[in-house]
Amino acid sequence: MNKSYPSTRMRRNRSSKFIRNLVRETSFSSDDLIYPIFILPGKSKSEDIISMPGKKRYSIDKYLPILERLHKSGLNAVALFPVIEKSKKTNDAKESFNNNGLVQKSVRILKKELPDLGVITDIALDPYTITGHDGLVDKNGNILNDQTVKVLSKQALSHAEAGADIVAPSDMMDGRVMSIRNILEKNKFHNTKILSYAAKYASHLYGPFRNAVDSYNNLQGSSKETYQMDFANITEASLEIKLDINEGADMIIIKPGLPYLDIVSRIKDKYSVPVFSYHVSGEYSMIKAAAKKKYIEEKATVLEAMYCFKRAGCNAVLTYYTPEILKWLDDK
Ligand code: PBG
Repeated sequence: MNKSYPSTRMRRNRSSKFIRNLVRETSFSSDDLIYPIFILPGKSKSEDIISMPGKKRYSIDKYLPILERLHKSGLNAVALFPVIEKSKKTNDAKESFNNNGLVQKSVRILKKELPDLGVITDIALDPYTITGHDGLVDKNGNILNDQTVKVLSKQALSHAEAGADIVAPSDMMDGRVMSIRNILEKNKFHNTKILSYAAKYASHLYGPFRNAVDSYNNLQGSSKETYQMDFANITEASLEIKLDINEGADMIIIKPGLPYLDIVSRIKDKYSVPVFSYHVSGEYSMIKAAAKKKYIEEKATVLEAMYCFKRAGCNAVLTYYTPEILKWLDDK
C-alpha cells in the first residue's frame, strides 16, 4: 500500500477544531496542579516578592480565604515554603523540628480549616541554617550527610505529627528517604506519603526562590553542587530515582521543569511511581518578564508549558502559575 503523499496528508487531522480535539493525545486539568506558597510568620501580613513579579508571601491567616477559593476552583494540594526570621536561623537548624514552628503551626491550621486540601511540606534545612544550605555544615564548609539526615527525619516527623499529608525531601542527602520512612513507620504514620525530590539539579533557575525565602544572602555565593545534581547528567538521575524508590518514596519529583523534561520522559516507563515536575521560580519569572514586555503571550505560553509537562509524562506539576491557570480554566 502506498502510504506516502498525497494519500497521507498530515494536515487532514489538523484542518478544524473538532478533529484537532478528537486526535489530541494529552489532557491537562486542575487535577494536575500543585501550588507552592511562601508563608510569613505572624498575622495579617503580605509582602510582594520582588524577584517573582505578581507573587506575594502571606501569613497563614491571609492564605486561608485565597486557598479556600482556589480549592473550590479545583486545587488539590499546596506545597509550603516558610520564610524563617533571621533570629531563628542557627548552625544546628533546630527550628526545623520545632513542633510550634511556622510550618508545623501552618499545617495544623490548614488541615483544620481546609481538611480536603492536600498539604505537602518541604524537608530541607535551608530556611533554618545560617549558611542557607540544605544540610548542616562543618567548620571547613563541608555538608554533613548523616548528621543532616537525622535532623531531616525529626523535621519530617514533626510535620507528620502536625498533619502533613505528604513530606517532600528536597535536600538531596543520601539515605534520607529510608531514614524518614523508618521514623514515620515507627511512629505509626503509615499513611504519610513521601514525595522525594529524587533528581534535583544544581540549577541557576532557583535564584528568585532564594530571594523569596530570604536564603540568597545567607549562601554568600556558595553553590549546592556537592549535593544537587550536575545538570549535564541523566544516567545518574536514573540511579537516584531507583535508590529513592527502594528506600520507600511513594512519588518522585524532577526539578527544575521545562529544561529537564528529557529526564521525565527517559525514566517514565522505567519506574512504576508517579512523577511530578517543578516549574521553578526562574521559569516563572522568565515568562513573567517576557510577557510584561509583550514579547510573548502569557496565558498561551503557560498553558502550552502545562501540556508539555503532561506530554513528557508528568502526573502533576508544581507551579507558581496555579492561581492564574485555575482562573483561565474556569473562564474557558
Ligand atoms: C531548597 C529548595 C529550593 C527550591 C525549593 N526548595 C532552592 C534551592 O535548592 O536552593 C527552589 C524552587 C524554585 O526555584 O521555585 N530546599
